[in-house]
This record gives sequence, structure tokens and C-alpha cells, in this order.
Amino acid sequence: MSTVSSASHTVTIDLGERSYPIVIGTELLGNPATYAALPKGAAALIVTNTTVAPLYADQLRAALAAKYAQVHTVVLPDGEEHKNWQTLNLIFDALLGHGCDRKTVLFALGGGVIGDMTGFAAASYMRGVPFVQVPTTLLAQVDSSVGGKTAINHPLGKNMIGAFYQPQLVVCDLATLDTLEPRQLSAGLGEIIKYGPIADMDFMDWLQTHMDALLARDRTALAHAVRRSCEIKAWVVGQDERESGLRAILNFGHTFGHAIEAGMGYGNWLHGEGVGAGMVMAAELSRRLGLVDAAFAERLRTLVQRAGLPLCGPLLDAADNAGRYLELMRVDKKSEAGEIRFVLIDGPGQATVRAAPDALVREVIDACCAA
Ligand code: NAD
Ligand code: GLY
Repeated sequence: MSTVSSASHTVTIDLGERSYPIVIGTELLGNPATYAALPKGAAALIVTNTTVAPLYADQLRAALAAKYAQVHTVVLPDGEEHKNWQTLNLIFDALLGHGCDRKTVLFALGGGVIGDMTGFAAASYMRGVPFVQVPTTLLAQVDSSVGGKTAINHPLGKNMIGAFYQPQLVVCDLATLDTLEPRQLSAGLGEIIKYGPIADMDFMDWLQTHMDALLARDRTALAHAVRRSCEIKAWVVGQDERESGLRAILNFGHTFGHAIEAGMGYGNWLHGEGVGAGMVMAAELSRRLGLVDAAFAERLRTLVQRAGLPLCGPLLDAADNAGRYLELMRVDKKSEAGEIRFVLIDGPGQATVRAAPDALVREVIDACCAA
């Protein structure tokens, strides 16, 4: 019988009876041993998309055939613009069409879009069926597959409809990153960079030293970056699964970033690109509030730039750009009674969530957006 490679590493999300492992390594996705401990069931449904299916669906299907009598696949259209009700319903069509029962296990094979939608489908089908994350983008391996946030977008706001629902297992096969477009690799680096300023300055130092290796897809460097990111996320989620407080720090850069994604039309700016420019803006706001010095803001800017991410937000409205950002940011899930709450850096390695005066936010947007 095959075993999971000893070169793999496991990070545990510690949530009592909802705890689960994140396995990080290579030769995992197509190895039946990876899935051996999962709950038994008659059927598995692989949810993937038109880009990922031709690359990895056969490998996963073959591995799952050892455990499940029936392995079905549903192939969704690719893109953030399809993260909506219509596409979600295709998963339910497949589940009902194949007569899937409540022991059916869903496998999310793809990036964060597939993971978020599959998780939401798993949370709602027959009021909840088990699911497994098999993330194939860097962004999904370091962030979206971990922690149980699932959602679809609404035209008026990003990730506005969803549920907290934890997977049974996360399988990060680093070999899948070989086929990723460079722009997508950079987007993943955006979510990795955020962990430094909010929680771990040693990791920020490490990223400065190893950014070129990460861009060159050095496996050892990628393994460390995925592992450390998952460890930090596990530490946060283990204390605040449902974001009643601490977990909001994982949204550093996201308040500006989500406004960019929604304002530009989903799919035009990648999520990680919005986060990259958003972190620069949030750091600048932190600086103007006297929470960090200029040297820290500049250090973060340089890291974002080296990762190949945009430093400036786009112009969303020629007549009143800052007003449009503010309008979009008020729809953010962290807003309270219409007041926007920002994740700010309160000294290197430490984050805080708080409001800021509109006039100051306008100044930051004016200073940080490309004409
Ligand atoms: P994505 O899912 O759109 O994937 C990016 C692109 O890469 C897609 O075209 C995809 O088909 C392709 N792709 C995936 N794997 C590939 C591979 N191995 N080789 C070649 N191409 C591949 O985007 P993403 O960046 O992975 O995820 C972004 C989404 O994640 C956003 O919707 C964001 O809101 C969400 N997100 C969720 C959380 C969470 O906690 N749930 C956290 C961060 C981001
Ligand atoms: N990506 C933010 C979170 O999981 O909370």
C-alpha cells in the first residue's frame, strides 16, 4: 500500500471536533494514501473548472477511485466573474443529478474561486456534507483553502453571501504550482506577504531574502512559505473561527482590495493584486495615523513591488475617485453602522482594526491611486 511521502509536512487547524490537517508536499494529489483517513461514502464529487480539469482531474479521480465506488466530476466555467449563484447551482445540479446522498464527499480542485464555491455548496447541500480542499494556486494554498470561509460574490459586494464551514482535509501539492501563470503566482505572494506585517516580522525578513527564490518557484522556498502562512492562519483561526475579533487581521489590505475588485468588475484585477495595492494603501493610512514610520511603509511597498504586484490602486471614478472607493468600502463585512473599519499596522508585526476619518482616507486614496 502507498503512503503519504515522508517529505510532506502537516499543519493542524485546531478547532476541537472540527479540527483537520493541512498536508503540504509533493506527490500528494494523485496518491490514494492522502485520502485514506477521510469518511467513507458511496460517492465523491470533484468540483473543478475548465482550466484545472485537463491538468489534474484525472490524477485526483484515479486516486479517489480506490475509496469511492462512484467518482463524479463537475467542470465549472473559470473566473472570478463566475463566482455567483448561477455557477453555484451547477454544483447542486450535479449532486442531485447523480443522486448524491448526505455522505457524498465534495473535492474542491482548483484555486480560491473553486474552493469558496465548493465549500458553500458543501455547507448547504442536504444541510451539510463533508468536503476536502485540494488547492492548486499559491493563493489558495496559503489562505483561501484554510479556515472555513466559503462564499459567492454579489454585484454590490465581494464574498457577501456564504457560510463558515470547515473542510475535513486540505491537500497542498506544491507540484501543481508549476503550471500556474506568473501573474497568479504574484497574486499568491500578496496573501503571503500580509502575514509578516500583521503577525511575524521574522517571516517578513525571510520573504525579503527569499522573494527571488519564490518567484523562481524554488520548491524548498515555496514549501516554507506555504507552511509558515498556514501556521499563522491556523494560529489565528484556532482562536477566532468566526471572526468575532482577531481573525479580521487576516483582512489586511482587503478593505481597499475588495473595493478595487468590485469597482473594476470581478476578474479584471486579481484578488491578490487588489490585496497588494490595498496593503500599500493600508500601510500609508497607518503611517498617516502615526502607527508606523515611513521606513516600515516603504519596506512593505518594496516587498509588494518585488512580488510583481501593483503599488497603486486604479482610478474607479474620474469625477470623485475617493468617493467611489469610500462607497464601495462601506459594503465591507467589517463595516459597522456604515462606518468603515480598516485593518491597520500598529507597529511592525502587530495589527489593529479601527475606523479612520474619511478626510484622511480620501488623502490616502488620492496619494495612492494611479491617474
Ligand atoms: P482563482 O481560483 O480564480 O484561480 C486563478 C486562476 O488560476 C484561474 O484561472 C484558475 O483556473 C487557474 N488555476 C488554478 N490552479 C492552476 C494550476 N495549478 N495551474 C494553472 N492554472 C491554475 O483565484 P485564486 O487566486 O486562487 O483565488 C481567489 C479567490 O479566493 C477570490 O475569489 C477570493 O475572494 C478568494 N479568497 C478566499 C479566502 C477565504 O478565506 N475563503 C481567502 C482569500 C481569497
Ligand atoms: N482570508 C481571510 C480569512 O480567512 O479570514
